[in-house]
Amino acid sequence: MQENITRLQAALDAFDITTAEQLEQFRVAFTGRKGQLADLFDELKTVAPDQRRAVGQQLNQLKQYAQQKFEQRQQELAAASANAPADPTFDYTLPTVPNALGTRHPLSLVREEIVRILARIGFNVEEGPEIEDDWHNFTALNFPENHPARDMQDTFFVHRTPGQPEWVLRTHTSPVQVRVMQSQKPPIRSIMPGRVYRNEAISARAHMMFHQVEALFVDENVSFADLKQTVYYFVQELFGDDMQVRFRPSFFPFTEPSAEIDITCLICKGKGCNICKGTGWVEIGGCGMVDPAVLEQSGIDPEKYSGYAWGMGIERIAMLKYQIKDLRLFTENDMRFLRQFEAS
Ligand code: DAH
Repeated sequence: MQENITRLQAALDAFDITTAEQLEQFRVAFTGRKGQLADLFDELKTVAPDQRRAVGQQLNQLKQYAQQKFEQRQQELAAASANAPADPTFDYTLPTVPNALGTRHPLSLVREEIVRILARIGFNVEEGPEIEDDWHNFTALNFPENHPARDMQDTFFVHRTPGQPEWVLRTHTSPVQVRVMQSQKPPIRSIMPGRVYRNEAISARAHMMFHQVEALFVDENVSFADLKQTVYYFVQELFGDDMQVRFRPSFFPFTEPSAEIDITCLICKGKGCNICKGTGWVEIGGCGMVDPAVLEQSGIDPEKYSGYAWGMGIERIAMLKYQIKDLRLFTENDMRFLRQFEAS
């Protein structure tokens, strides 16, 4: 045993540690769990009982010695590597690896622009729930129960228990008009962007989920002229001063009179092409004077107040603005599509 101890002491002294690898080799050979020190501690049981204590002490000293050598070299190596001269082959003037920045979705870009344009003339943003009750989505907007006008919009019904209120995925953002009028007093000047749902087969021109933005202005003496002027301003801010707007008589249950808003076709600039089917005009939304019955249902006195409203599809505007031909691109998350909006 004594010989083994002497030999180990010599081996510990002889072992050079100048690199991290050697430090590790030292640990494995001597102080590690399966190292030579552990072996000697195992042998302790073969030593005669009267000497065991003395030999044990010797071994402990040896172990301490080995550990001290290990820790000291470890510290020296760490200090040396911290002070090591820079790698001469490394070019510190290289640019850093750039972070991959995300891009804003084209629908967000368009929505934000719409909000900015209308905020400049005093419209604030309001939101409503996407799961809507039948009353707000239809009844309060003058769609009588069982009236075929409800078929204008293919509705997803969430819950249909006889005798209970029906819940739907809102088919348009118009129910937010009702919620805003119920909770605020005129003058009301709000826009309501949001997601809407319709039970339609997905194609290049239709989707079961898309976005609209609603505008509502309610005050004393609001007229159709106010509506037209605001739409002119809006369209010219969004698409440019050379844009023309026309109002085409139409029908919506919640407005009277109602109109569809057409603008100069952006592709052919009004000359006529296959996008505008040769007319030179493309439709961007519906509008009208809020029907007095809707004001009344929403708790606003139609004798005192009048209002206008309009609603537009955000996808539709984005498609016209960026000349996107397929609605499905908005939801497919194809990076080749999304990257094109990087600089916008
Ligand atoms: N909510 C209608 C739709 O989704 C669009 C609309 C038409 C909204 C006329 C309006 C409006 O506010 O006045 O088809």
